[in-house]
Formats: sequence, structure tokens, C-alpha cells
Amino acid sequence: MAAVVVDEGVHADVRTFLSQDRMMLIDGKWVPAASGACFEVVNPATGDVLARVAEGDKEDIDRAVAAATRAFESGPWSKMTPSERGKCLWRLADLLEEHLDEFAQLETLDNGKPLGVAMVADVPLAVDHFRYYAGWATKLNGESIDISVPFAPGAEFHTYTRREPIGVVGQIIPWNFPLLMAAWKLGPALATGCTVVLKPAEQTPLTALRLGELFSAAGFPDGVVNIVPGFGETAGAALSGHPEVAKVAFTGSTEVGKLIVKAAANDLKKITLELGGKSPNVVFADSDLSSAVPGAASAIFFNHGQACCAGSRLYIEQKIFDQVIDGVVENAKGIKVGSGMDPESTMGPLVSQEQFDRVTGYMESGMSQGAEAACGGKRVGNRGYFVEPTVLVNTKPDMTVVQEEIFGPVVTAMPFSDIDEIAAVANDTIYGLAAGIWTQDISKAHKLASRIKAGTVWVNCYNIFDAAMPFGGYKQSGWGREMGAQALENYLQTKAVCVQL
Ligand code: NAI
Ligand code: MG
Repeated sequence: MAAVVVDEGVHADVRTFLSQDRMMLIDGKWVPAASGACFEVVNPATGDVLARVAEGDKEDIDRAVAAATRAFESGPWSKMTPSERGKCLWRLADLLEEHLDEFAQLETLDNGKPLGVAMVADVPLAVDHFRYYAGWATKLNGESIDISVPFAPGAEFHTYTRREPIGVVGQIIPWNFPLLMAAWKLGPALATGCTVVLKPAEQTPLTALRLGELFSAAGFPDGVVNIVPGFGETAGAALSGHPEVAKVAFTGSTEVGKLIVKAAANDLKKITLELGGKSPNVVFADSDLSSAVPGAASAIFFNHGQACCAGSRLYIEQKIFDQVIDGVVENAKGIKVGSGMDPESTMGPLVSQEQFDRVTGYMESGMSQGAEAACGGKRVGNRGYFVEPTVLVNTKPDMTVVQEEIFGPVVTAMPFSDIDEIAAVANDTIYGLAAGIWTQDISKAHKLASRIKAGTVWVNCYNIFDAAMPFGGYKQSGWGREMGAQALENYLQTKAVCVQL
């Protein structure tokens, strides 16, 4: 039994869920790891053990891939109509929505984020995502093509394309939006008819495992979705190198993204990668500061800065620099840091000791290289992984804190004077995930949007996501796009069928 202590006020179903060791989902059954091992999942608000989870490794990945292969090749899933697949996804969305409170609490306990955020963002966005891809299942059509064939005069052909699911896919996800990242990955894979082995992050496996309990009731046959929790170096590496896996979808660090590419090279698996970022957020003097200032603050402080697209480099036109900094600092000071389960909290803890050490390490390195904290710069309390929302000024382009992804509530602020300068500076990192532009000059906004090398550019807003809007990175922020119609391409391959009549 797991040594779990959770506060009063926690949903009875969440208590029950946490009171037992959680197993892995293989071929529709909840099974222990082949080794029998479990690992501990920690509540980041307290540092206490929250749950114990079966620790998957190579042998478990082998079993899960075998189940997914059977389900893809010969199980009932392989014969389901597109409409039936769509209905399964829609029912999954309904079931998730029915359990919204429970999923939100579980996410908050596991990841640390404020419960109010999990309630209005993480869980509803996941629901919406499944519904969006439910609709796509019936719209994956090929085309018929009139061919000419100059060397076969007089011959007649009927030529068409089929868009076929790619097969068994391995999906490896991070801990910052655990349920939502599972939805981003599963939605398009299941709409297209693929089968899946999903490996949640070791820090936050709980909502994916709870989601796993809904697949059967939603109508998915056994083996279509398999969920193997475990560590990256073991379970993750086994999945990304598995010869029967046709495609790997990964979200996480750029460093591990490169390892995935190497692991997949052996058998030339298809890969999509959604990696790190160091996104510029540009505030022009002609912007509406009543939205630009809180927008700049939430661009970095949302999800405690643990977002790949966080607006972590704030560039402010020189003549309003002090005014914007004062405003962002005021916003930062208004943030109430505390347990995500406390309704007063607007920022929870970082996800783990490792992230805490990393983020506080960056704060120290910034200050030792000459940056100055206009606010924040320290941990909060002495229990759990809480840090202060931090605004660093006096930063220089070559400082580590300006170049590297911090993945915490730390923004570096710098002044700029014109659009040519800012276009160059905005692109001056290895990343290209997202960017923000704040201005009331519509032509300036579009001109800069086209010059920034990033997969998403938000104008007069930030962190707006929708299942229909593609998301992904330029440069070392990744390969391919998730969400929208484009994500379906990751899970489909085109077959041309040419029939001589
Ligand atoms: P990570 O990239 O190590 O972990 C992400 C996922 O990859 C987890 O499921 C992990 O188990 C898996 N993984 C790790 N090593 C693997 C391997 N060799 N083969 C296959 N899978 C593997 O990220 P980590 O260590 O949790 O965070 C480090 C930094 O990465 C963060 O500070 C942040 O900068 C960045 N990051 C970016 C994310 C994004 O959304 N793009 C999400 C999480 C982290
Ligand atoms: Mg790692």
C-alpha cells in the first residue's frame, strides 16, 4: 500500500485512487511491472510521497508494444469504421468531463498547479481536444487523381490515394501539463486509427493512469491504448528505440529530443518533437499597456513558467521600459505563491526537487553574471518547491539566463529601440517556438510576425491555445506540428493505388 497522506477536502475518488499502488495498462489490463518495481510520486507542495506507481522498463514496453501491434493488425480496432472511432473519442471526452473535478484535483496534487487553473484550463482543454479529433476521424479522405502516363498512350487508369494509419506509435510526454499533453498526443493518433504506447513523465504519471481507466468504457478495444509509466532512460529509451514502433511523438527537453532522433535512426521511425523554447515577448511603446503589462506577466508566470512557450525574454521599447517593468513587478508581487490546493494560491510549487534546483541555480547564475532582480530571486518557505516570481533586469544578450531555457517563473527584461533591432534580437537563440507582440499598429504587428522565426506568434495576447490551431517549433524547438489538421499528418501515410482499367 502506498504511504499516502492527502488533505481533507480532497475528492473521495481521488483518495481511493491514491490509496492503492497504481499499475500499468497493457492490453486492457492493469498489471504490475515485470520486475515488480514501483517508484514514488511526490506532491511538490509538500515533498511528501503522494502515490506509488509501477515502474515500467524494457520488458514492459515489449509487452505493451506487442499488445498495440496485435490491436493494430488484427484486433476489433482494425475493423472499426471511422465513425465508430470518432464515437469512442467523443465518449472519452464526455467521461473525462464528467470527472472534471477529480482529474483537476489529481493534476494539482501531482503537478502542483493551482486547482482553479486545472479546472478551467488543463482538463477542459483536454476534453475539447478529444472532441476536436473525434470530428476528424470521419474526414480523413484520400483523393482520386487523373494521371497522364506519356509512355502508355491510350491506356486508362483509375488512380486514388488512401490515407492509412502509420501503425503502433510511441508517445513520450512531460510533466508540465500531464493530462493535456496526453490528450495532444492521443487525440490525433486515435482519430487516424493508430494504436499507442504512452509513457507519461515519471514526475506526474497520475492523470494519464486515471485516464487509462476510461478507455474501455469509452469503447476502445483492449490494446489500443497502453500506458507504461517509468523513467526516461529506461522505459522511454526502450520505447523510442523499439523496432515495432512506427512513429515516436515526443514532448520534452531539446537534449532528450536529440536522443530520440538517434534512437529512431536505427529503423528510420517517423518522429515529431515538441521541444524547448526561449520565447521573446515584445512590447512596443504604442501598445495598450493595460493589457500588455498583465499580458507580459502572465506570459511568463502562467504555469510557474513551466511552459515550453513561456514568454521568458521580455523586450520593451526603451521609452516605456521603466513603466512596463514597474507594472510587471507589481503583477509579480500580487501573485500568491502557495499550495495549488489552497484556493487563495495563484502560483504553486515547481514540479520537483530537480526543477527547483535548476531554476534557483539559474536565478543565482543570472545575478552572479550581473543581472539584478527587480523582484523575486529566492525560494519561498522551506518546504515544497516554491520560488518567487522573478523579474531580472540589467541582463545582457550573452548571459546564460537570456540564452537558456529556465522553465521557471523567471523573466529577463531588456530595452530595444526599433523594429529591425528587435527582429534580429528576437531570433537570437537556438529556439523558435513562440513569440508575443504588443502594439496597436497593425502593420507593425504583421511585419514583425513574419520576421520572427517561431511556430506561433501571438499579437496582443499570449498563451492562447486551441485544438484547431497548429503548435510546434522552428529551429531547435522541434520537428512537426501538433494540434489542428496538421497533427493528423503525423499519424498517417499516403498510399497511391493505380489501377489499369
Ligand atoms: P525530459 O526531456 O528529460 O523529460 C520529458 C520526457 O522524456 C519524460 O517523459 C522523460 O521520462 C522522457 N525521457 C527522458 N529521457 C529520455 C530518454 N533518454 N529517452 C526517452 N525518453 C526520455 O525533461 P526533464 O528532465 O523533465 O526537464 C528538463 C528540462 O527540459 C526542463 O527544465 C525544461 O527546460 C525542458 N522541458 C521542456 C518541456 C516542453 O514542454 N517542451 C517539458 C519538460 C521539460
Ligand atoms: Mg530529463
